[in-house]
Amino acid sequence: MAFKPANNIQDLQYFGEFGGVNPSISDSSTYTFLSAKTMFDTFEGNAEGCYLYSRHSSPSNLYLGEALAAMEGTETATVTASGMGAITPVLLQLCGSGEHIVSSRTIYGGTYAFLKNFAPRLGVSTSFVDITKLDIVEAAITPKTKVLYCESVSNPLLEVADIKGLAKLAKKYNLQLVVDNTFSPLSISPKKLGADVVIHSLTKFINGTSDTVGGVVCGTQEFIDQLRNVNDGAAMLLGSTMDSLRSASVLKNLRTLHIRMQQHSKNASYLAKKFENAGLKTVYPGLESHPSHQLFKSMMNPEYGFGGMLTIDVGSLDKANTLMELMQERNLGYLAVSLGFYKTLFSAPGSSTSSEIPEDEQAEMGLSDGLIRFSIGLDADIERTFDMMHQCMTELGILETEIA
Ligand SMILES: Cc1ncc(COP(=O)(O)O)c(C=O)c1O
Repeated sequence: MAFKPANNIQDLQYFGEFGGVNPSISDSSTYTFLSAKTMFDTFEGNAEGCYLYSRHSSPSNLYLGEALAAMEGTETATVTASGMGAITPVLLQLCGSGEHIVSSRTIYGGTYAFLKNFAPRLGVSTSFVDITKLDIVEAAITPKTKVLYCESVSNPLLEVADIKGLAKLAKKYNLQLVVDNTFSPLSISPKKLGADVVIHSLTKFINGTSDTVGGVVCGTQEFIDQLRNVNDGAAMLLGSTMDSLRSASVLKNLRTLHIRMQQHSKNASYLAKKFENAGLKTVYPGLESHPSHQLFKSMMNPEYGFGGMLTIDVGSLDKANTLMELMQERNLGYLAVSLGFYKTLFSAPGSSTSSEIPEDEQAEMGLSDGLIRFSIGLDADIERTFDMMHQCMTELGILETEIA
């Protein structure tokens, strides 16, 4: 039977403490115990239903975690204070000194910086590979490798990972396949394709209002318990805990994610086709010209489309900058990093979100200076948006012809 992530969210039923239609927000950092014995058992990790201290867990965080686990089809999940606050504990839980990670080379700049510059200080090394080539991924695996790491749709190049193929490799070599699904919530369900751990930066589409950072790790009960273990759990000990007030607000936004993703995808798909037809070098997984279009199609939950992210290449950083400034002046969106907002956001990743990646490596992976990454908004009239964007491009000489 087809996996229906939005139904799983819709079907969750919570009653607030006083019968409210939203769960009551747990506004406490610590919890009382009626007996000292139960407190001891809770520390030992075997007093079901008892809360100890909110860095470990809180009712509000558990509600959000369970909703996201339902969305991803995993046994459970734990929410964190940011996407990086989800990624770093997962990798440090799975890898220790002397161990090795095989990672996609096109990933979010912060994750890249962590693996390249920080993890080696702890003795964890990483090989960065072209994740779309399974033979190259396999060749990079060593007896020390513990993790295969990728983004389902990569930031910023929108490369698509063959999650089923990677899961086969992970099984063969007894590795954990960790997938960051931030760019494709609902559209792609990595666990259903064989991933072991699914991560999101909630900051983006899932929260959707650009008012907070947040993250989540979705996985087995066993792995999430390990992350939260008071003695050696990386999530517990590194302390990137989400605040309960925030998890309550993210949970409320999650309920409209399916409608928002449909609109983001519809608008992005419209613009990508128009940009491509106008002669711009356009990358969008929904375009037939995308090298992994068929692969994305084979993995997707079709109701949610190909996502809200696209890139165009306007040839130079100068042109990219002037175009973005003009589009902002004309109120077509904001010149800002991040994604998933109701307004379109645009930035030049080479000099912003991927600037952690050295220039020669950017060039090697195809991240050119003139690349603009768009997170397409929820615009009600996307034809009008296109006409206005096209106008900006012709005024700046990026496109030559006026629309007929
Ligand atoms: C794909 C991806 N993963 C992770 C992150 C990090 O998330 P956060 O900024 O919430 O820490 C980002 C942020 O841009 C991202 O784009």
